[in-house]
Amino acid sequence: MNLADPVEVFPDCRLWLAYFDDGSGDSVSSPKSALAEAKLSVRDQLRWQQYRPATKKRQFLNSRRAVRAVLQRELGDDAAHIQFDSDSQGCPILLSQQVGPWPQISLSHSGNAVAIAISMNAFPIGVDIEVVEPLRADALRLIASHPQERAWCDRETGRESDALATLWTIKEAVWKTLHCRDEIPISEISIEFDRGILTPCVANSAFQDAKFRTQLFVFECEAVVPETIRLAAGDTPLRGCVMQRVTEPHRYDAP
Ligand SMILES: CC(C)(COP(=O)(O)OP(=O)(O)OC[C@H]1O[C@@H](n2cnc3c(N)ncnc32)[C@H](O)[C@@H]1OP(=O)(O)O)[C@@H](O)C(=O)NCCC(=O)NCCS
Repeated sequence: MNLADPVEVFPDCRLWLAYFDDGSGDSVSSPKSALAEAKLSVRDQLRWQQYRPATKKRQFLNSRRAVRAVLQRELGDDAAHIQFDSDSQGCPILLSQQVGPWPQISLSHSGNAVAIAISMNAFPIGVDIEVVEPLRADALRLIASHPQERAWCDRETGRESDALATLWTIKEAVWKTLHCRDEIPISEISIEFDRGILTPCVANSAFQDAKFRTQLFVFECEAVVPETIRLAAGDTPLRGCVMQRVTEPHRYDAP
C-alpha cells in the first residue's frame, strides 16, 4: 500500500489517498496478513466472503486496510479502540466504546485507488473518486439531468467528458453526505454554476436548506472548475470531490 500524505480540504477535515498494487502484490500474495491488517467488522467479513470477482474482493479488502492505516495516522493509539463499520444504509461509520465522539468518515474506491475523507467535527462528509478511463460519454450524459448542468457541460467545449465526470463525482459526494439510501435518488441532486462557484441543491424537504462545502481535486488530469486542488503525489490519473454538509459543529478531541 502506498498512502500519500493527507490534504487538508476543510478545517479539521483531511483527504487521504491510498494506492495498491493491482496485480500480484499486497492482499493477493498474503491474504492472511491483509485480513489481519484490515480488522474487518462482522458485517464486512460477510460482505468480503460474498464478493466473487477477485478484483472486487481485493479492492474491498484493500479499502479496509487503507482505512486502518488512516485511522492509525489520524488517531494514534486511539485507533486501536475504533471499529470501522457501515450502518444499515451502507454508510461508513466509526464505532468505539472508549473514544468519543468519534470522527466522520467517507470512502470511495476506483481502480487501484482508495480515497478516504475524515473529519474531526460532526459535519457529514462524502468523498468520491473516479479513475480516468476511456470515455463513457453516453452513460455519463445521464448524470447531467438538469438544464443548467447540461448548459454548463455544453459550454465546456472540447472537454465535455471531463465536465461530466466532474459532475458525477460532485453528485455522488453530495449523495454520500445525506446518509440515506433509496429514499433520495441522485436525480434529486442538482448543481448550480455561477461564475466558477458551484452550489449543490437537494430537492427534498428534509434537505432543502442544506448547505455544502465543496472541494474538487485531480491528479494528472484536467480540472474544469477553478479552485480545484491538483494533488502533488499519486499513481494513476483521477478526479474526485469531497463534500461536507454543514450542520451544527461538534469536535472530536483526542483525550
Ligand atoms: C453507493 C454508491 C454511492 C457507491 O458509489 P460508487 O461510485 O459505486 O462507489 P464508491 O467506491 O465511490 O463508494 C462506495 C462506498 O460508498 C459508501 N456508501 C455506501 N452507501 C452509502 C450511504 N448510504 N451513504 C454514504 N456512503 C455510502 C461506502 O463506504 C461504500 O464503500 P463499501 O461498499 O466498500 O462499504 C452509489 O453506487 C449509489 O448508489 N449512489 C446513489 C446515488 C445513485 O443513484 N447513483 C447512481 C449514479 S447514476
